[in-house]
Amino acid sequence: MHLANNNRRRRLLSLALSGTVFLGMETGRAAAQEPGDAAIGHMLGQKWCSSCHVIDSTQQMGASTGAPSFFAIARMKSITRLSLRVFLQTPHQRMPDLHLTRGEVDDLSAYILSLRGK
Ligand code: HEC
Repeated sequence: MHLANNNRRRRLLSLALSGTVFLGMETGRAAAQEPGDAAIGHMLGQKWCSSCHVIDSTQQMGASTGAPSFFAIARMKSITRLSLRVFLQTPHQRMPDLHLTRGEVDDLSAYILSLRGK
């Protein structure tokens, strides 16, 4: 009786623990339904993309590389989360391969898509 009780308590404890780990992984992403954090994407864009792309409305100078602005990209009908992911994870002739992590790709995509309609 005593033993059984102990076992049960241990099972409950390990269940509770695994629940905590699961919750810990989910928070941060849970608030936004879509993966990626647009605010982080904005920062990454300023760092890595703004030398060629106009990435927000405070940026005065466009680059002369012929790169479309992020606003223009967001307006394109062909642009989806998936197409952005594919584009950003494959090397391109006129755009350097930036070796972005999956998380960075998600953040940048979230930022670009957040410009839709702006
Ligand atoms: C060295 C300049 C350069 C940098 C840096 C750069 N890009 Fe580009 N990007 C370009 C050019 C040029 C094009 C147009 C490609 C073409 O027309 O072939 C382009 C196209 C794109 C497109 C595709 C639009 C379409 O037609 O589908 C996306 C999305 C994009 N860039 C995102 C980014 C992001 C995000 C970053 C930063 C992580 C970035 N770029 C950094 C030059 C650059």
